Amino acid sequence: MSKGFVITIDGPAASGKSTVARRLAYEMGLQLLDSGAMYRAVTLLTLERGIGISEIEKLASVAELIGNNLRIVMEKGDRVRILFGSRDITEEIRSADVGKFVSPVSAVPEVRAQMVRAQRNMALAGGVVAEGRDMGSTVFPDACVKIFLDALKQERVRRRYIELIEKSKDVTIEEVEKEIEMRDSIDSSRSASPLRIPDGAIIIDTTNMTVEEVISSIKQICANKGCG
Ligand code: DC
Repeated sequence: MSKGFVITIDGPAASGKSTVARRLAYEMGLQLLDSGAMYRAVTLLTLERGIGISEIEKLASVAELIGNNLRIVMEKGDRVRILFGSRDITEEIRSADVGKFVSPVSAVPEVRAQMVRAQRNMALAGGVVAEGRDMGSTVFPDACVKIFLDALKQERVRRRYIELIEKSKDVTIEEVEKEIEMRDSIDSSRSASPLRIPDGAIIIDTTNMTVEEVISSIKQICANKGCG
């Protein structure tokens, strides 16, 4: 696999991106670039340090710190650990509080600038599967393959609800629906790198597809384009 080889997978919350990107990276022997985890890590530190959303300089320096010290480690199978220095923050970045504040934090242009810099650096080391909202549109416009995963909102709500219940989280389906609607709205309407279908992206509607079907269709697209 050549250096700098990039496959981007963008899409709205709970469209299946994370699962698909993780497995694809594992099966193709590429580094996973989970940009959502990076924005979540910035949000976690911001909350821990009591930084307000209007304290731009402090937010930017937290983002720089995360950009320089976050590692996404693929374990056996398709398990992923998120490390900040030697601290394992895999679980903490999935907390309800982080979920609530991650969209406003990631809408701050100075935070995004630091994240984009770190994300491009990660791809210099070798091939990546980059997953997020603006991977194909802003961070890697020249990616070899660009995928946009989507699914009907009710299906995305159902998937996220099941995921949370399996983790023994105490939520109702109405709460999950509200959170997804809120995230969709902030992620799509912010001025810095809004969620949109990147130029040249192939759209896959995963509403009625299994994870395996999605992965095999992306592998086919990669093979057709000579990427992988
Ligand atoms: O993929 P996720 O749910 O872990 O992402 C969490 C949030 O991070 C999402 O609501 C918006 C933000 N995000 C972003 O702004 N840009 C990205 N490339 C990835 C995520």
